[in-house]
Amino acid sequence: MSGFDERLSTTRALLARIANDFSPALFASSLAAEDMVLTDLILQAKLPIRLFTLETGRLHKETLAVLDAVRQRYGVDIEQYKPDAAAVETYVSTHGLNAFYESIELRKACCNIRKVEPLNRALAGNKAWITGQRRAQSSTRNDLAVQEDDTAHGMQKFNPLADWSEDDVWHYIRSHEVPYNALHDRGYPSIGCEPCTRAIQPGEDIRAGRWWWESADQKECGLHVVTNSDGTTRLVRASAQAN
Ligand code: ADX
Ligand code: SF4
Repeated sequence: MSGFDERLSTTRALLARIANDFSPALFASSLAAEDMVLTDLILQAKLPIRLFTLETGRLHKETLAVLDAVRQRYGVDIEQYKPDAAAVETYVSTHGLNAFYESIELRKACCNIRKVEPLNRALAGNKAWITGQRRAQSSTRNDLAVQEDDTAHGMQKFNPLADWSEDDVWHYIRSHEVPYNALHDRGYPSIGCEPCTRAIQPGEDIRAGRWWWESADQKECGLHVVTNSDGTTRLVRASAQAN
């Protein structure tokens, strides 16, 4: 068996185990390439794992088009969790629609309203959640475990693609003809909200187009919180700066 085939069969087995042992479990999809691999694996195996996305209200039209592509291909609707409308309105009327460029505080406040609060709402009442994070995505993720005790949310968190390479992801997508975000073919290896994501230049880090105006130690949106061995928690990107 090739390295890829082994990783694939381990991932399939893990997803089946999560569905079996950690029900109810759900998968957080950003609709980017890694998440399309997991979407395909979960839906082809008909696993009882719910799929949701945080529809921040600031996604690219190409990202939203993936929702339609999934419906067409698999006959499944990915659930959309949207921000609290009143909180968005207050933020926009107080600070302005694109105030996140002005300061770290206003950027984090926007991420809190549009991502973190909806994530907490989505996760409530579940035993486990699944993400598409990979170690090779950035130095900030190079100690990413396949299974984490997510004390912040009081549940288990699984990163089944932790040891997959970018080539693995694209090999799976091409060989299984999985639909994917058209922006990936236009220089966007990592995709978040439209105003906070740009294409990268050849040779740049694959996450260089995310919150590009901020320094590396500030680049976290609050979705991924890690528990330290002493029980305290830290944000993934903040920790990387210390390494
Ligand atoms: S982020 O923290 O910088 O935004 P990234 O875009 O690399 O994360 O995505 C890592 C994982 O976080 C994805 O594979 C997915 O599981 C989850 N995620 C990120 N954005 C969203 C979103 N909008 N909706 C649901 N899950 C998301
Ligand atoms: Fe707001 Fe940008 Fe965060 Fe999206 S990534 S929630 S637009 S600050």
